[in-house]
Amino acid sequence: MKQPVRIAVTGAAGNISYSLLFKIAAGEMLGADQPVILQLVEIPQAMDKLRGVAMELEDCAFPLVHGISLHDNPFDGFRGIHYAMLVGARPRSKGMERADLLEANAVIFAEQGKALNEVANRDVKALVVGNPANTNCLILSRNAPNLDPSQFCAMTRLDHNRAKGILGNKLGVNPSDLDGVCVWGNHSPTMYPDVHHATVLGEESAISQIDEKWYKEDYTPRIQKRGAEIIEWRGLSSAASAAQAALDHMHDWALGSNGEVVSMGIISDGSYGVAKGIYYSFPCVCEFGSYQIIQGLEINEYGQSMMKKTEEELLSEKAAVDHLLPAETAESRENLRKSDRTGQTAYDNGLDKADVYYKADRIC
Ligand code: NAD
Ligand code: LMR
Repeated sequence: MKQPVRIAVTGAAGNISYSLLFKIAAGEMLGADQPVILQLVEIPQAMDKLRGVAMELEDCAFPLVHGISLHDNPFDGFRGIHYAMLVGARPRSKGMERADLLEANAVIFAEQGKALNEVANRDVKALVVGNPANTNCLILSRNAPNLDPSQFCAMTRLDHNRAKGILGNKLGVNPSDLDGVCVWGNHSPTMYPDVHHATVLGEESAISQIDEKWYKEDYTPRIQKRGAEIIEWRGLSSAASAAQAALDHMHDWALGSNGEVVSMGIISDGSYGVAKGIYYSFPCVCEFGSYQIIQGLEINEYGQSMMKKTEEELLSEKAAVDHLLPAETAESRENLRKSDRTGQTAYDNGLDKADVYYKADRIC
């Protein structure tokens, strides 16, 4: 039997978590042989509701759940964790501008970055789900100077899954028959769903089977605004599909994507000309617990303009929260290099990787 791993989930009494927690507990994220200790984090006002959720988890008698603890602050909740699922965020309220939402959440993620830096396991993997996910992730990472920027991701897997699901439906194939679909940029209506490199059943090109007008005028805006479409029909924002995407993201990051292309909001190393230092969604493959950007894809003029637009949005979000980005982490996040030889990102950030991994207590 493997040693249990510690997983923190914030916003654990919310809608997404009500689906996510039970899937993690059932072994769908890290495998049916991986015991887990769940460290559930909420705001003080939601602790009663959280207790109810924890009781339900207990009532499922999941064999993989070796412990559940409840916390009203991240410095307790993140102690010793190997995985952080950061779902909790302040929702947009009536009359609130996007800048106000950025500011309200920026404060939350700055504190959580400090907590991860101080008390999490040194090889922690943190996934930001709470919106605005990419910029929250930037704030988180910049407030954790002793962790590597590649230990943080923003979730764009829901957009990726949507892009595959809707394309598969159009082509009359199963989504699993598609590979190479990807979503570039921000988890927002500027994202660029790209099917130019997608294949059907490993051979045929997907783009050659769809009409350009449908791709640009129906499909693209539909993926970009799918979150709003769900809210319109369901009256609530996506929850089960967001939980599934979070699970897929962490599963592939930790255990590998089996050669399949997946979209991940990761620190930009300048690949494809994207400004360094922002958390931007790139096509990746995952292996041995880390991701790698797929290099060398040909991007046409349309794609380049779409990628630029979403990059500009992320840069303006970054400028809006600049006061919450400590100067001491600018260098290690903004000067990453891409190795010419391997195409892999060189994390030349002063941290001794071997030392970082040596200190990870996964086996004791
Ligand atoms: P929800 O309102 O049902 O739950 C959010 C929970 O977070 C609440 O229980 C709240 O008390 C808690 N919370 C707020 N601040 C917190 C903090 N500082 N620490 C810990 N917990 C905190 O919302 P939901 O439907 O579960 O969605 C959660 C977030 O995920 C939202 O920001 C939503 O916009 C975002 N989302 C992102 C994606 C994506 O693809 N990236 C998809 C869907 C939803
Ligand atoms: C989604 O893509 O479903 C969510 O990010 C939408 C939202 O605004 O909560």
